Amino acid sequence: MEINLITKNSHEHAKEKLATMYKDNFTSAEKKEYIPHHKFSQGPYLAMETNDENSPEFLLDAASQIATLGLGFNATALFGTTMHESAWTGNYLDSTFIEIADSFKELLREKASNKKLTPVFVNSGAEANEVALIMAYKKRAHTAANQIIAFEGSFHGRFLSTLFSTWNPSKREPYQIDGHETTFIKYPETKSDQFLFEIDSEWTKLWENPFAQNFEAKLADFEKNADELLRSEIASLKQLHETLKENTHFAILVEPMQCEGGDRYSTNRFHVALNLLVKSYKVSVIYDEVQTGFGLGRDFFWHRTFDLKDSQGNQLNPEYITCAKKAQSGIVLTENPCWENNEFQTSSVIRGYYQAIAIDQLRYKISAIEEYTRTKLSELVNKWDQLSSPRCFGVAFAFDLSDSKDIAPFIANRFDLGLLYYQAGENTLRFRLNTAWTNEDIDYLFDAIDEIANRVYKNESRVLKYTPKTKVNSPNEYLWHSKLVEAFKGQVQDKAAFNFAQEFFNKEFNLELIKIDADNFDYYKHKIEEIQRHTYEPTRQTSIEKFKKIAHCKDSIAIALLSETKQLVGISFAGKISHFPHESGLRLVKYFNNPKTLYMLDTTIVNMEQSQGMGKYLKYALTLLASSYGNDYIYGRNRDIHAGAMLAINCSLGAIIEMRLKENYLDDEEHRDVIIYRQNLKWKNEDLKYSTSPILNTASYESMPTLVNKVCLSNFIDESFMANLKEFKEVVPKELQHFFTASGHSECVEKIFKSILIKNQKQRTKVISFNHDYFGKQSFMSATLSGVLDFYPNSKVDTLGQLKEKLTTKEYLALFIGDLLINFSHDELKEIIKVAHDNGTKVVFNESVYFHSKKKLFSKEHGIIPDASYIHIAGQIGICMLQEEVYESRPLMMISTWDGDAYALSQAVAYLKSPVKTRKEFRIINDSSYKFALNAPNIFGNQTSKKWYFTC
Ligand SMILES: Cc1ncc(COP(=O)(O)O)c(C=O)c1O
Repeated sequence: MEINLITKNSHEHAKEKLATMYKDNFTSAEKKEYIPHHKFSQGPYLAMETNDENSPEFLLDAASQIATLGLGFNATALFGTTMHESAWTGNYLDSTFIEIADSFKELLREKASNKKLTPVFVNSGAEANEVALIMAYKKRAHTAANQIIAFEGSFHGRFLSTLFSTWNPSKREPYQIDGHETTFIKYPETKSDQFLFEIDSEWTKLWENPFAQNFEAKLADFEKNADELLRSEIASLKQLHETLKENTHFAILVEPMQCEGGDRYSTNRFHVALNLLVKSYKVSVIYDEVQTGFGLGRDFFWHRTFDLKDSQGNQLNPEYITCAKKAQSGIVLTENPCWENNEFQTSSVIRGYYQAIAIDQLRYKISAIEEYTRTKLSELVNKWDQLSSPRCFGVAFAFDLSDSKDIAPFIANRFDLGLLYYQAGENTLRFRLNTAWTNEDIDYLFDAIDEIANRVYKNESRVLKYTPKTKVNSPNEYLWHSKLVEAFKGQVQDKAAFNFAQEFFNKEFNLELIKIDADNFDYYKHKIEEIQRHTYEPTRQTSIEKFKKIAHCKDSIAIALLSETKQLVGISFAGKISHFPHESGLRLVKYFNNPKTLYMLDTTIVNMEQSQGMGKYLKYALTLLASSYGNDYIYGRNRDIHAGAMLAINCSLGAIIEMRLKENYLDDEEHRDVIIYRQNLKWKNEDLKYSTSPILNTASYESMPTLVNKVCLSNFIDESFMANLKEFKEVVPKELQHFFTASGHSECVEKIFKSILIKNQKQRTKVISFNHDYFGKQSFMSATLSGVLDFYPNSKVDTLGQLKEKLTTKEYLALFIGDLLINFSHDELKEIIKVAHDNGTKVVFNESVYFHSKKKLFSKEHGIIPDASYIHIAGQIGICMLQEEVYESRPLMMISTWDGDAYALSQAVAYLKSPVKTRKEFRIINDSSYKFALNAPNIFGNQTSKKWYFTC
């Protein structure tokens, strides 16, 4: 399939479909008017539906789905998610999932260069920041401290505390609650991407001890000789210092490069001083790497580029690092977290793991993209007087327009040229590339921006023709991964597996797939040696004896591809691991002694460059055969960086990194470590007790594209998402058919609170709830309502009498009733609503527990209708249902990056429609400790009954 850029076809098609979502204010009319067709997306190109099912059009996404994609759409490595049973079931106690989480932890520790860090998985960027802030608050050194510090120009998310710490007044002020203002410090921006300076050791020593007698005098010395940038840094640091002296702040949120604020860079010199100063006052530093983390810049974490050190050369570690976006789930990295196990979604953690591994292996590709882009960017900016401040680092680039009024036409023209990019800050256009971009794609992007400049500044318009060389091959990935899932479930016989693979190679490449065994080995032996000689230098060639061992062993697997003229064009050999005890590291692996464990000796294709993915498919074929023959595991060794492409293929087959052997290659080339990975070839069908999914689901191939591609639902919703949301509409009372979707329990609470708040024009801010009720725990507002923090204006009551008394004070914006709903009689609930309404208070239900046990909504079943209600269905999907009166329907007022998860919603619908007997038990966890990491967080949950209500 060729890639043709979007036209009116896909646009008109989308408008019609979206109209059904906007009718009667069902959802806010805020989506981009194109409908993704995920199965066909490829690399940087997002496929869009047209009226013809098989002729999608393509959008060149120069924002990489708002920085959530590091490898492009349908990236090979991300298919690894589909290979794990726990991605489908949500079982977070699955032994393989625990291994993945542990392996992910090792990688993150290495990338942050801090062995003590623990990842806490959450659901989004705002949630990660809120969780970091809650932990910082709970651990605060100054007991009276209740304020946050952030920077002008910052963006930290749209939960309450993170929104109050987000600079843009038009986003923040409509929701600001008095008494909860964040203190903003000026951000010393440099307009250049040359932000790394030699740091004077006196500078470091100065900030190490801000209490020193001569501090002010020494600072004045620096100031005297300072250039403009240094002066602005000193001014910010002084302002920060004065703020810290108050001892009223518990944390500072800082982006190492401000993204939404307009790609605003800051120097290593400033960050060294900031860290030292803040630490001196025992305040927590939170590096918000939600957008910059996972390889936006040159390093995996942007703040690591600053090489933060004290005067003794010790690494300075922030107390918290927060991630989301490319991490696919929210992550808080910290030492000794207050709690570990959280509300999260297994599939997203797994996808984040694979994205992390593959991005890490592609750091040279990122540098190459930067280099190429930098040249193009400087040519563009030199050409147009109206463009300035080109900046480019890693896969991020931006430039400014001289007049912010011109931003609008630059944005208005983007779809006409088949592009997606966004404004950031006041007058900046900001771009996010990823490793799937070729130079040719980049050329088109700059030609297209140049054309838009022509239109905006010269009123001239040309038609640009562009047909990318990239071909759509993602349907083949789905074909293979569906078959592999079947095999892992034990449903593919060996003969059928071979036939499937043979047919594929025949049809796709006109090649014959054969087995190599004792009978034909001697015939192919010389050809195998020739392939080796042809492809590898002498030290990397595998001895023919090893191939022979495999060919002669009936429990091993050897396959090859023959051309029409019977030439050998590819081989793949995997043998029983016990044949290879001398391969370095193999004896250390977990399943060395398992007789059904294989070792991947070699997969080679003649003329790799032009192989069109043949090597990948050959490896897929080998895995399929290995699984259908009843093997348990395949181990393999990939050299760091050198074999990065092979590692990505192995990731797509569900590889888990079991160990990394340092300095394993005894040569003088760089990157001498070896990565030992393991592929599991069978789903273990483990006892499923606790799940981040609403249903104990098995693979449903239709939802596979949304399992591989997590996109920003705030931007684009696909057909499945629309259909699934409408299914939920059917089970909701008519009055509540105005929806927001959310990425977790806490985001449901935040969105509903914010909507009611803004509709009430902030005349009231206080909330009220019963003691021992539950509303999530991953934001200040939900933890306040759950009674575990006393942060936002609130009251708690124990009895109906107390509630009525409080309501009559007419102070309360909203009453939240959650798991306790079923404890009240219908008459009592009706009375509660009446008293609340009589006193101007809105009533919100958390119907999650009822929904999980009955598959129905409490409100609909019993005809008791609150003003707003929500169900946190599971993992990264929750649905907020509001009456029109309290529904903030203006576009973009309530969005977050993800706004939920399309795959989780499809599982939710499968749950909704499943026969009653397959219903998932909703678990109330009886004070039991989690096997996944630490003990259950005893600071949360019902302190009296010792029960913790948990919708993970
Ligand atoms: C730096 C930064 N922090 C936090 C967030 C919020 O993340 P989310 O939208 O996942 O809540 C964003 C989103 O753009 C961001 O760029």
